[in-house]
Amino acid sequence: MSVDLIDLHPTPDDLQQLVEEGLRKTPRQLPAWLLYDAAGSQLFEEICAQPEYTLTRTEISLLQERAKEIATSLGSGVIVEFGIGNTRKVAPLLQTIQPSAFIALEISRSALENTLQDLDDAHPGINMLGICCDHSNLQSLPTHPWLEGQRRIGFFPGSSLGNFQPKEAVAVLARFRQLLDGGPLLLGLDQPRDPAQLEAAYDDAAGVSAAFARNLLHRLNRDLQGSIEPERFAYRASWQEAQQRIEMALVSRCDQTLQLANTRWHFASGETLITEHSVKYSPQAAAELVAQAGWSIRQRWHDSDDNLSLHCLEPSD
Ligand SMILES: C[S@@+](CC[C@H](N)C(=O)[O-])C[C@H]1O[C@@H](n2cnc3c(N)ncnc32)[C@H](O)[C@@H]1O
Repeated sequence: MSVDLIDLHPTPDDLQQLVEEGLRKTPRQLPAWLLYDAAGSQLFEEICAQPEYTLTRTEISLLQERAKEIATSLGSGVIVEFGIGNTRKVAPLLQTIQPSAFIALEISRSALENTLQDLDDAHPGINMLGICCDHSNLQSLPTHPWLEGQRRIGFFPGSSLGNFQPKEAVAVLARFRQLLDGGPLLLGLDQPRDPAQLEAAYDDAAGVSAAFARNLLHRLNRDLQGSIEPERFAYRASWQEAQQRIEMALVSRCDQTLQLANTRWHFASGETLITEHSVKYSPQAAAELVAQAGWSIRQRWHDSDDNLSLHCLEPSD
């Protein structure tokens, strides 16, 4: 079968506008997808292998153990994954559902190319279509013969929904409902648990999470002709009880002025640049969230500690 790729990545002008908007906020915060350039995608893979970061291993085990039940609940159709990153999570679904095509939406072009090539080698009977885009901002899936007349099954693992604030998360889930055109969505979310465990998961002892966050500054230097010295920022991951989220931030180690695309930005010592949030949802909070976006939970699977769940969602009307 074949591999095809459609590139809808935001332009350099979009990027500059987004960064400037983010740096004008109080506190300053950039969209989480900016973390994923080629180097960021590789560092994320390394994070997944750290002993403190159990989410990926737990979710893969759950998907492998329950693949048949999950496939029955989802039914047949083409699979559309939002933010693929790696191939290990979708593999059990490709094996059991055997779709005619797999559609991967992914912001990191290098991650998209590598994963589609690996999947094509492992599943030669399935057409592989990559769409390089910001999936939270996509109005519709592009027209393509592999999508024509096909029922769509969405897959959104990795607790990636947690990168959005609850209001934005509702909008993203509603957007996915529109993109899936009546089809179901398999959504992976992890739950609030011991804050010390969560903080360690997002600030591993080997320093990979810190390198991942600082890579954002290298990216800004490269894409926006910046003058940032990444080591002048410390990295911090902290649990925020009221918002039920981990906040990941770079903290300026000194008073400094940075230049990005001809604009200067002053950072006071101790001032933060939030790189991402990871909101955690209890089972009840997850049910309320998806209901607001017009989804209902048909079935839920979780690991033995009930730290992470996969939900088969179907449109509620
Ligand atoms: C937290 S990682 C999860 C990767 C993989 N799905 C998993 O569960 O391990 C998020 C993935 O989604 C991609 N991504 C993040 N934000 C995105 C966006 N707005 N649009 C498309 N892809 C995005 C990243 O490049 C990365 O590959």
